[in-house]
Amino acid sequence: MTDRELIEMAIAASENAYAPYSNYKVGAAVECGSGEVYKGCNVENAAFGGTICAERNAYTTAVANGERKFNRIAVYANGEDYCVPCGQCRQFMAEFGLDTLVLCVRGDGEYEAHPLREMLPFAFSKEYL
Ligand code: THU
Repeated sequence: MTDRELIEMAIAASENAYAPYSNYKVGAAVECGSGEVYKGCNVENAAFGGTICAERNAYTTAVANGERKFNRIAVYANGEDYCVPCGQCRQFMAEFGLDTLVLCVRGDGEYEAHPLREMLPFAFSKEYL
């Protein structure tokens, strides 16, 4: 799968976002070790802390389907700036490896690719436990 195809899947996922409070609709598509791709969108809640981000939604869906390796994830929102994962999502994704490539996509479809390792320097991990 090309970067562009993965990005198209993230854009499609953003259309299912449930974001009545922020109106910031995020879509993610993660390509796993098996080659399968899983989509996620943000799902907000009236109790704001219950909100789940698109990235964690995609990852948890993948894990529930038996995946443990994550090659690339595309993250999209229809904004002027590149959509970047929040700190909590960076930490969540780091659990499964820092070599995952994160494609940060903006509304016009342009994107920047960053290894998760660069987005979360000095990551806390199971090695510390
Ligand atoms: N959000 C994501 O889904 N992923 C990100 O990378 C950034 C933030 C969501 C959470 C919330 O529903 C909305 O965007 C505004 O913060």
